[in-house]
Amino acid sequence: MADATELLDSGERLDPEALHTLQLERLRASLRHAYENVPFYRTSFDRAGVRPDDCRALADLSRFPFTAKADLRANYPFGMFAVPEDRIRRIHASSGTTGRPTVVGYTENDLSLWADVVARSIRAAGGRPGDKVHVAYGYGLFTGGLGAHYGAERLGCTVIPASGGMTARQVQLIQDLQPQIIMVTPSYMLTLLDEFERQGVDPRGTSLRVGIFGAEPWTEQMRLEIEERFAIDAVDIYGLSEVIGPGVAQECVETKDGLHIWEDHFYPEIVDPITGEVLPDGEEGELVFTSLTKEAMPVIRYRTRDLTRLLPGTARVFRRMEKVTGRSDDMVILRGVNLFPTQIEEIVLRTPGVAPHFQLRLTREGRLDALTVRAEARPGAGPEIRDAAVRAITAAVKDGIGVSVAVEIVEPESLERSVGKIRRIVDLRQQSSS
Ligand code: DLL
Repeated sequence: MADATELLDSGERLDPEALHTLQLERLRASLRHAYENVPFYRTSFDRAGVRPDDCRALADLSRFPFTAKADLRANYPFGMFAVPEDRIRRIHASSGTTGRPTVVGYTENDLSLWADVVARSIRAAGGRPGDKVHVAYGYGLFTGGLGAHYGAERLGCTVIPASGGMTARQVQLIQDLQPQIIMVTPSYMLTLLDEFERQGVDPRGTSLRVGIFGAEPWTEQMRLEIEERFAIDAVDIYGLSEVIGPGVAQECVETKDGLHIWEDHFYPEIVDPITGEVLPDGEEGELVFTSLTKEAMPVIRYRTRDLTRLLPGTARVFRRMEKVTGRSDDMVILRGVNLFPTQIEEIVLRTPGVAPHFQLRLTREGRLDALTVRAEARPGAGPEIRDAAVRAITAAVKDGIGVSVAVEIVEPESLERSVGKIRRIVDLRQQSSS
């Protein structure tokens, strides 16, 4: 096999000093581009008393104001664009489950940059030109499907644009077309697993070699489960529409030690979610991105609400981000204790007799919030195993997270399955009696 370093692109071969020089040059240009072309940025920089030229070192970025999702909503649909509308080649939008969707736009160069960073991601995941890539992220306004699609083509792969849904057919396609790579949310991969089993097809016997999973938080335990059940390597891909889509950061298959941020294009900071103060590398906080090379919609200090920490580079020069613990919006505060669905995922997945499907139900009892963990029994798990699982999960949550929850083990295949991004929390607090 070719030496892996031969496959790196020019950005990935930079030494740290050259990377910093390039980042600063691009950062200054991106600040100028935003300030000169987007009234929102002009106003917000002016209000904060800063000018693009005040950024003389990377650390000076902390003097610039943040951008929040609310700012994008307030400028809906095209107010954040920095180029005339006739230069926009594509629009995507976030799902907008709450309020207006967030619209993002791409110039021709942006689409090309996006294909490049996704191609780099697939290569880091172990994909090679000539591989067949089954894309089961949804196609449409969501960035997952088309983002993966053009990146795979850019790398020289054959794309199978399956999109989400029609699960039985997906299993058929994987058997017939023999892809080496699958790109899909981890929760939908579990739905596919059920379908393989329903059809009596051994999921370990497919042509698949690598799964590139993202768009939602998932844990090390989930990685082990998927790797074991499918006999593949499972790696993490991260991104968000506001920054570009998938391909902002990617885990390398040879190290599987967190996601390298493609920081020659997307400059990361970690800030204290409450005070906004920049935290040193290694400390956990909210991830903030500044785009360095985007044209249509530059983002300056965009607050992702995703919680993680920055770590030094290993397989690549670029810094890594640890797997995302969760979004600050997904955090449940239960009797003063902060809890993320990923913490429950770790516990559920290591409990014998329990399938990797669970849901968190929030209710109100009197003036207190209560949480019920509903997890599915594995087929064949009898009453004793289920009772032991209830005790094990209850104790692990109490000891590990420090809060009491109710646990219900439900019948196999009774919880709703994901076809894309899964919603773990069912909030019934409005309906609960008080
Ligand atoms: O989910 C882009 C994407 C598509 C990424 C396919 C990876 C694969 P949005 O719909 O804008 O974009 O949602 C972005 O999803 O802020 C995170 O909260 C979450 N997210 C994305 N990737 C990961 C990941 C796409 N690997 C939001 N781990 C982000 C944890 C993730 N959370």
